[in-house]
Amino acid sequence: MILVTGATGSIGTHLVRLLQERGVAFKALVRDEGKGRALGCDVVTGDFDDPGSLAPAMAGVDRLFLNAGGAQPVDGEQPMVRQQKAAIDAARAAGVSRVVKVSVWGAHRGGRLAEGAHWEIEEYLKASGLGWSMLRPSGFMQNFITGTAPFTAEGKLLDGYGGAPVLYIDCHDIAACAAALLTGSGLTGSGGLGETYELTGPRALTHAEIARELSAVLGRTVEPAELSPDELAAWARDQGLPARFAEDLAELSRKVASGSLATTTTAVRDLTGREPRTFGDFLAANAEALRAGLTSVAGGAA
Ligand SMILES: NC(=O)c1ccc[n+]([C@@H]2O[C@H](COP(=O)([O-])OP(=O)(O)OC[C@H]3O[C@@H](n4cnc5c(N)ncnc54)[C@H](OP(=O)(O)O)[C@@H]3O)[C@@H](O)[C@H]2O)c1
Repeated sequence: MILVTGATGSIGTHLVRLLQERGVAFKALVRDEGKGRALGCDVVTGDFDDPGSLAPAMAGVDRLFLNAGGAQPVDGEQPMVRQQKAAIDAARAAGVSRVVKVSVWGAHRGGRLAEGAHWEIEEYLKASGLGWSMLRPSGFMQNFITGTAPFTAEGKLLDGYGGAPVLYIDCHDIAACAAALLTGSGLTGSGGLGETYELTGPRALTHAEIARELSAVLGRTVEPAELSPDELAAWARDQGLPARFAEDLAELSRKVASGSLATTTTAVRDLTGREPRTFGDFLAANAEALRAGLTSVAGGAA
């Protein structure tokens, strides 16, 4: 039995659908029963912030998809580190044999924001004695729907990367990779056990190119607005984000501007047997959500 955490999120909703289509036995961990019912699968309630809720949720589970949102520190702490360590402890106690964890592109010791937090969780998982596979995706295309990709109040698309090309990936592809690792479908050898996969879309795009593609779908011009890393930090502070977070954001943007997020990998094809979706594929599949989302996020008349 597989347990899918983060089931209501950008990756989880796709993973739930893929496992349903394949007739695989699984249940989804949800915080909110109502949201869980909308998934149309077996659900169990639980919260990473309530470790006591995790033991019953893991009963009968042998494979765990470990994912939850949020890189924003609370009182200087990255909650996901504590939360995911609690989930790993519960998985070990329940006799889970394998964990497929969503990490982040470029995770490393001492990394800014999610990079450092995910590295710490990865190390904890590796030391746990559980079987593991790590998925380290680049930026999500879904950020353009959820509002994680920043727009100005006038609806311009911020580019804090100095015009450098950046890799984005469709969460559908991350879910497809997770499904392959959780079910072993199409995999040979160790089935990805003990492997770390850097996941990307098929081509890095500049934010100017993305703005052009968004314009075509929305039927109005989305202009890019280039900000230097320091301007980006100031923008983040203006949004009410903590100073340390804004500083880390600026440092990450300097790194990406130097090309750190532009080299494609073959991991999606290796795990799923097909090429990753293009930004155009993503836009075509999500045109309605984009129009609705960007109208509210970007304040524009889509
Ligand atoms: N966004 C990117 O570009 C990007 C790139 C690379 C890696 N990542 C990583 O991907 C992961 C997912 O990020 P996201 O923001 O995109 O996720 P998301 O779609 O917002 O989904 C978050 C999921 O986690 C669940 N969740 C949140 N807090 C929880 C808790 N305390 N206990 C149990 N479940 C909880 C949420 O459930 P509810 O429905 O109850 O809220 C939701 O299902 C993060 O670890 C992030 O660092 C993100």
